[in-house]
Amino acid sequence: MEVFQIEGGHPITGQVTVEGAKNSALKLMAATIMAPGVTTLTNVPNISDVHVMGKVLKRLGASVVVVDEHTLEIDTSTVDRWETPYELVAKMRASTAVLGPLIARFGRAVVAMPGGCNIGARKIDMHLLGLQCLGVHFENEHGDINASIPNGMHGDTVTLDFASVGATENLMMASVFAEGVTTIDNAAREPEIVDLANMLNAMGARISGAGSPLIEIEGVRELHPVKHQVVGDRIEAGTYVAVGALCGDPVRVSGFNPLHLGLVLKKYEQMGITIERHHDGCTVSRTEPLRACDIQTLPFPGFPTDMQAQTMTLLALAQGSSVVTENVFENRFIAASELNRMGADIRIEGHHAVVHGVERLQGTQVKSPDLRGGAALVMAALAAEGTTTISGISHIDRGYEHFCEKLTSLGAKISRIEIDDDPDED
Ligand code: EPZ
Repeated sequence: MEVFQIEGGHPITGQVTVEGAKNSALKLMAATIMAPGVTTLTNVPNISDVHVMGKVLKRLGASVVVVDEHTLEIDTSTVDRWETPYELVAKMRASTAVLGPLIARFGRAVVAMPGGCNIGARKIDMHLLGLQCLGVHFENEHGDINASIPNGMHGDTVTLDFASVGATENLMMASVFAEGVTTIDNAAREPEIVDLANMLNAMGARISGAGSPLIEIEGVRELHPVKHQVVGDRIEAGTYVAVGALCGDPVRVSGFNPLHLGLVLKKYEQMGITIERHHDGCTVSRTEPLRACDIQTLPFPGFPTDMQAQTMTLLALAQGSSVVTENVFENRFIAASELNRMGADIRIEGHHAVVHGVERLQGTQVKSPDLRGGAALVMAALAAEGTTTISGISHIDRGYEHFCEKLTSLGAKISRIEIDDDPDED
C-alpha cells in the first residue's frame, strides 16, 4: 500500500504553479462528444480522474491522444455508442457529465446511476428533473439511467432547487441543440461553469449568462471542434495558499485567477494571513498568530466546500474557537476525526463543526477519507511535531498532480513510500 510519510516542522517557502482545474477539465472532456472531430485541450491536469474520463471517452469510441503531460487531443468523430460502463461511473461520479452530451448528440444515453461517496449521497435528481423539462424521457433499468427524446428536445425554463454545479453543466450541454431557448434559473456560478460555456461558445454554441444565476442557451444545429485551455485550478491553488499560511514564510502560488478564490482569500486575511494578489495568482505569508474565524460553505461566490477541510486544519491551530458550517454536502467533516487523533479539538454537531484552536498537533498514523480531507491531513502533518504516515492517498492523487514533488519543492519533508498491507486490517 502506498502512503505519504511526512516529517513536520520544516519551513515551507518558495513558488508553486497550479495546473488546470480538475472540475473543469472533466466536463470539457465530456463536452467534446458534442463536436465531432479533434478538440485539443491544454493545461489539463495529469491526475487519475482525468485518466478515468479518458477511459470513458474511449469506451464510447473516441480516441484520446496524450500529446504531452498537459495536452489532450480528443477525436470524437468515431464515437458510436451512448452507454457508459458502471465500473467507470462507480469509480468517478463525474462520469455522469457525459449524460448531457450523449443526449445532445444521439438523443440517447445509458448512464449508470452514480452511487454515493464518502462525502454524501451525491444524487442527480436535479439533473434528471431538469432534463425532463426539456423533453428527455428516462427509464431506470437495473441501476442504469436510460434516456431518450421520443419527441425531440425543446427549450424551456428550468429552475434548480439548489445551485448544483453538475446539474447546471449537464443542462447547459444537453440544451445546446434543443429547439428554441433554454433558461437555467438558480444556476451554479462557479468559474468552471464559465470555462465550459466559453469552450461551448467557441465551438459554435450560443450561451449567455454563465457565471450568473440565469443562463440562457439558444439552440444551434451543430458544434465544431476547437483548441481550449483549461482554467487554472482555484482549489488546488487554495490548498497551496493554506499550506503557505500554515508556516508563514512567503509562498507564491501561480497559475490561477485570484478572483476565483475571492472569499477564501478575504477570510484568510481575517485569520491574520497576508495575501498579496497578482494577475496570475497570489503570495501568501503570515507574521502573526492565526485567528479564529467562522466559515460557512455555499455555492460560488460563497466559501467553497472544496476548501472547507483545508481551512479546518488552519482553524485547528488558530487562537480561539471557530464554527465551520457545511451547507453543501451532508458528510464532509470526516477529516475532523483524523485531525483530532493528531491533537486537534474539533466537535461535530450536525452540519456544524466547533473548532477550538490548539497550540500544536502531533504526528501519527492517519487515513485520508476523501480528496480534500486528505489534503487537509497533509497540511496538518506539515505543521505537526514528529512524523505522520497518511494512507488512502489514492484519494489525493485524484485531484492533486505531483502533490509530493510540489510540496518538496517548497521545503516539505514528504515522501511516497510502499508499506505492507496488514492482512488482518479490517
Ligand atoms: C462538483 O460536484 C464538484 N465536482 C465537487 O468537487 C464540488 O464540491 C461540488 O461541485 C460543489 O462545488 C466536480 O465538478 C467533478 P453539486 P457536484 O451538484 O456537481 C446535491 C472535489 O473535491 N445534489 O453542486 O456533484 C449533492 O448531493 C469535488 O473536487 C442533489 O441532491 O456538486 C450535494 O450535496 C467534491 N441532487 C449538493 O447538491 C442533484 O441532482 C451539491 O452538489 C445534484 C446535486
